[in-house]
Amino acid sequence: MTSTLFTGIAELVTNDPERDDLLGIHSHAALVVEGTKVAWVGPVADAPAADAAYDLGGRAVLPGFVDSHSHLVFAGDRAPEFSARMAGEPYAAGGIRTTVAATRAATDEQLSAHVARLVAEMHRQGTTTVEIKSGYGLSVRDEARSLAVARQFTDETTFLGAHVVPDGTTPEEYVALVTGPMLEAARPFARWIDVFCERGAFDEDQARTVLAAGAAAGLRGRLHANQLGPGPGVRLAAELGLAAVDHCTYLDDADVDALRDSGTVATLLPGVEFSTRQPYPDARRLLDAGVRVALASDCNPGSSYTSSMPFCVALAVRELGMTPAEAVHAATAGGAAALDRDDVGRLTVGSRADFFAVDAPSHVHLAYRPGVPLVSGTWIGGRAV
Ligand code: NIG
Ligand code: FE
Repeated sequence: MTSTLFTGIAELVTNDPERDDLLGIHSHAALVVEGTKVAWVGPVADAPAADAAYDLGGRAVLPGFVDSHSHLVFAGDRAPEFSARMAGEPYAAGGIRTTVAATRAATDEQLSAHVARLVAEMHRQGTTTVEIKSGYGLSVRDEARSLAVARQFTDETTFLGAHVVPDGTTPEEYVALVTGPMLEAARPFARWIDVFCERGAFDEDQARTVLAAGAAAGLRGRLHANQLGPGPGVRLAAELGLAAVDHCTYLDDADVDALRDSGTVATLLPGVEFSTRQPYPDARRLLDAGVRVALASDCNPGSSYTSSMPFCVALAVRELGMTPAEAVHAATAGGAAALDRDDVGRLTVGSRADFFAVDAPSHVHLAYRPGVPLVSGTWIGGRAV
């Protein structure tokens, strides 16, 4: 197995929980990759020899972003909806149906090409693991082929048939379809099952029904909840011990306590509040209460059409009350926890060699220099992408 020694690392973020600081930082560091994994990290002065060497020229190196929430399988454009919102219109869950029509009309090849373009954008911005949901098909055929497309790009695929009730069916009929033939068709391509538990989408009972059917079929649960207003979704996620509950914009004290006690990760998606002009979630309150927090892009054509985790980190620092270190941790180790993974989101011996370098001496620059394309290289499993 070939080994490569990476030097010229001004700051190496490891997220090693055994180190004293949150990010487990080594200064003037080196990293040895063997095959697809990290074989050694530490001060450059102590670095072992390797087969090959690569000088990063004084840059900071971070674990690749783990973007644990995206909806990349879609067709069509909703820029006019965004413009209308910026002129004062509210965001409504019903806009999803516009994308459903365009997605159903697209070929598999068109959908794949579009996902490939977005995943390439993500790689250029330091993302090395991405979760991709279905949810713009909403028929047995279109949900299954959306997941088959997603599976070409990641193992972290999520069946979100319960996104909204499509036109031409009742909620009762649709939940029966989602938990029956649609789940059966989706199951071979999905690891997770998700429900949009929100007024205008699915209520608590419907969410329980869908998650229970998914669990019986071997899919692990996650939820969209408390995005547009207060609701039961966050407490339901905590009660069921789900890996993550996403959005968490409107929380009361009982929600925060439930998250802390369950260990369910609260995934915050500040690109949504940016793009819908809603109030941002309060990360400070969650972190101070001891809740595990992740940051993700929620890349989708309606509520958050960004593929940029650096942008989400900058928003989290400026608008959610996080420090740069907390935001970077949430976008890497936090995302890994939200996907129940411990092989990514960190750079420790034995973890996957997924990382990126920034044209800057420290992670702080990701928020300090918002909007600047600082990522100079991304490696997945030790290979430059
Ligand atoms: O995560 N909340 C539900 N789903 C997406 C929105 C999708 C859309 O508007 O197309 C979200 O924000
Ligand atoms: Fe979403």
